[in-house]
Amino acid sequence: MPALTWPTATAPIPATRRGAAAWLHASVVAWLSVALLGQLVFAVYVAVFYGGTALAGRPERWNEVQPHGWRSGAWLDNTVLSAHLLFTVLLIVAGLVQLLPAVRRRWPGVHRWSGRAYVLAAATLALGGLFLVWVRGGAVGSLSMHLAITGNALLILLCAAMAWRAARARRIDEHRRWALRLWVAAAGVWFFRVGLMAWLGVFRAPVGFDPKTFTGPFLTALSWGVYVIVPLLLLELVLRAQRAHQAPALQAAVAAALALVTLVMAFGVVIATLGMWGPRIV
Ligand code: HEM
Repeated sequence: MPALTWPTATAPIPATRRGAAAWLHASVVAWLSVALLGQLVFAVYVAVFYGGTALAGRPERWNEVQPHGWRSGAWLDNTVLSAHLLFTVLLIVAGLVQLLPAVRRRWPGVHRWSGRAYVLAAATLALGGLFLVWVRGGAVGSLSMHLAITGNALLILLCAAMAWRAARARRIDEHRRWALRLWVAAAGVWFFRVGLMAWLGVFRAPVGFDPKTFTGPFLTALSWGVYVIVPLLLLELVLRAQRAHQAPALQAAVAAALALVTLVMAFGVVIATLGMWGPRIV
């Protein structure tokens, strides 16, 4: 399977419009760098906290961070959740490999295999997630939030299938677009955590939701926003702006929007690392 690539302009850029195109490129690189770095921190947390407690024979400690994490005797629920956590780490590492242009250029074989691993991980997470929400039950949040993450699972499965199909048919440009959509959709749960922590970092209180029930208008809006709407919309705008060499205003507007999102995301990553992931593993 051909690799994911950094979104780059495909045609030469006229000298007069280099400014906006260069800004767009810089914001894409900044956005991806923050996202990849923040996802690595998330993967380290999952590996160290969940993996470490499991290896120490104390998986019941998962319940310190999830109300219904490890259920004694419920082998199917526990297996699905364990696979969910294991594939989280695989997804993030394989996603990083796919997005690094140097790896793609030098080791195309590594790229193909990590592409397969990525699609496998994404599909397993989506299907396992659906099981956890609708079959195992007890997932935190409201029905609307469950529907939003279900939408996310369906988008992941759709994008994975489309990316795979286009790759097999050697329609490389189409494959690249679907693979990028897949990556963005599969990052939805990470956007949720980072968005929530940025919100808490700003307000220093659970504004717009009840922390006991983990429900409320803010969480509903955040769920639909990050699982289904905003990241995919922003990606389409970036892809369109990259091709729109005749429209520097569009390129500048998308670059500015992406720069703003990058700042919020970076803030959320810092708060999530210091306030949530870090303390659970040190
Ligand atoms: C595709 C990317 C996904 C990743 C990387 C991912 C990762 C994780 C991680 C790390 C946890 C443990 C909680 C924590 O410590 O933060 C978790 C829990 C969970 N995930 Fe996912 N997940 C993904 C997709 C999904 C999807 C699509 C669904 C639902 C359709 C889902 C449903 C759940 C549920 C129900 C839990 C248990 C926590 C709770 O009760 O709410 N996940 N996931």
